[in-house]
Amino acid sequence: MTATQAETIAVTDRITLRAVEERYTAELHNLVTKNRAWLRTAFDWAQYVGTEDDTRRNVQSNQMLHQRGYAKMYLIFQDDVLAGVLSFNAIEPTNKTGYIGYWLDEAHQGKGILSHALQAFMRYYAERGEIRRFVIKCRVDNVRSNKVALRNGFVLEGCLREAEFLNGHFDDVNSYAKIVSL
Ligand SMILES: CC(C)(COP(=O)(O)OP(=O)(O)OC[C@H]1O[C@@H](n2cnc3c(N)ncnc32)[C@H](O)[C@@H]1OP(=O)(O)O)[C@@H](O)C(=O)NCCC(=O)NCCS
Repeated sequence: MTATQAETIAVTDRITLRAVEERYTAELHNLVTKNRAWLRTAFDWAQYVGTEDDTRRNVQSNQMLHQRGYAKMYLIFQDDVLAGVLSFNAIEPTNKTGYIGYWLDEAHQGKGILSHALQAFMRYYAERGEIRRFVIKCRVDNVRSNKVALRNGFVLEGCLREAEFLNGHFDDVNSYAKIVSL
């Protein structure tokens, strides 16, 4: 696959995952900026979001990691409107393990969009035999993210003590996994 070919994962007739590309920079930057205040309650990086050029550099680096298979970053579109991000933050190819990250625009939450996208995402990588162990790590206090893991059949494997630094605290993190071997 060349860099110019779009990689998409169909989710429903309204929802599509599109591999991150530089042409989405402005839309992504606008969505992050719009959601910045509350994203800061979930992600340390949210406080460092700067100009559109910073977002462009971030997109370029994620695109490079995506193309080389070290990570994957997909943009979630509903009816051609950017609604959020679904990623493998890291991939261990030998272990066929992927570490999942996600966020949704506040106005797009509470509709099942992320769960539908996650199911299609896991099916896509499991069918290709690339990933069989899917991992979600989320702070114990992140109620909505814990619910995403449980709603989608992940099993709680343990709690990592003081494993994530956010807003001045080291917080405990739940580690969930789901094995999918098709
Ligand atoms: C985590 C996050 C993506 C969850 O978003 P979400 O919209 O709740 O996730 P889902 O797609 O699973 O949607 C489930 C919700 O939609 C509702 N829903 C409505 N229609 C639905 C449908 N057809 N199918 C499934 N759920 C549906 C569910 O009842 C549920 O709402 P509830 O939790 O109030 O009961 C979002 O809160 C977020 O972006 N948080 C900040 C970033 C973050 O924390 N990321 C994770 C870091 S580890």
